Amino acid sequence: MSRSAARGKEVMKDQREGERGAGDSSDSYSDGDSPDPRLENMPYIEAFGHRYHISGKIFLAFDEPERQRCEVQHKLYRHSLDGALTSTRLPLDVARILDLGTGTGVWPIEMAARYPQAHITGVDVYPIQRRKGVPPNVKFEIDDVENPWNMPDNSLDFVHARSIAGGVRDWPALLRQTYSKLKPGGLFEMTEIAIHVLDFDGKFAEAELCPEFLHLFRSMSEKVGIDFSPSPRVPEWLVDANFEKIVQRSEILPVGNWAQDEKMRARQSLMNNILNKDYVLENHCGLLFQSCGWTKEEFDALVPSFWQEIQAAQVRPYVTAVFTTARKPREELS
Ligand SMILES: C[S@@+](CC[C@H](N)C(=O)[O-])C[C@H]1O[C@@H](n2cnc3c(N)ncnc32)[C@H](O)[C@@H]1O
Repeated sequence: MSRSAARGKEVMKDQREGERGAGDSSDSYSDGDSPDPRLENMPYIEAFGHRYHISGKIFLAFDEPERQRCEVQHKLYRHSLDGALTSTRLPLDVARILDLGTGTGVWPIEMAARYPQAHITGVDVYPIQRRKGVPPNVKFEIDDVENPWNMPDNSLDFVHARSIAGGVRDWPALLRQTYSKLKPGGLFEMTEIAIHVLDFDGKFAEAELCPEFLHLFRSMSEKVGIDFSPSPRVPEWLVDANFEKIVQRSEILPVGNWAQDEKMRARQSLMNNILNKDYVLENHCGLLFQSCGWTKEEFDALVPSFWQEIQAAQVRPYVTAVFTTARKPREELS
């Protein structure tokens, strides 16, 4: 067997182990769940073979590959939190929880098992939530989270937003709305995987891999008014919205085949799984590149050099998951 074939097998084995290790819940319609009938009649924009929201403002696809990617990504986030569902330490009696851009709903469903007394609402523009096995304390609503929310001010205990950056235009406004709806003392958490591929050299490294591709991706995002990596600016926006106790932490997510210890290998296998051609690149690039005038053929011609840089023998690529947490002050500022 060639070295690369052996390496490929190793990565596949890693992937299976990573998924099994983290697997708390099932992960696709093939488990007997069925798509929401509303999806059938939902108008959409097609780009590079994927379906996107008709508004053209959500740069995240809503088809089955993206749905599956979100389920694997959920496992990856849990791995990064040593099995926990939040970086925030929540009180056991947390009552009202809102999940912004809930996707398949896997997070609220697993939160409901951990906090059976909590009422959890997941909101998304797409009706792609699981339909089987939804506990009675979870409900889903279809809406754009940048619209006004239909609950009173000071009514939520916890607001959670994970990997929604491809669909938010005005983060400061979203954070101000979050602040208003949280009770005094209420908690906020947001998580994003930064769109930077870095080279590990024994510590957090500065060297960016695939700079041409990522520069192109970022300049297109700027052009269409979407920031796929808002985390560095979030603390400042949270301060402006009057939040306190703002904490940010990053976790390394190795890519490729270099991680040594079991924990990092499990993250790596899940990361390899979501960072493959059909998932992350196309799902995140289709509408973006098409909006900027690219054809699928032009995009496809660009992709091999991206993989060559990541797979080069001498590099140890990684991306980071960034967890940001904050609290609304217990006493309202006067
Ligand atoms: C990558 S998925 C992540 C799903 C889920 N948060 C998770 O971590 O499992 C992003 C989801 O956010 C939703 N989303 C993005 N922007 C949104 C917006 N402005 N309003 C409602 N949903 C949004 C998308 O429709 C998509 O289902």
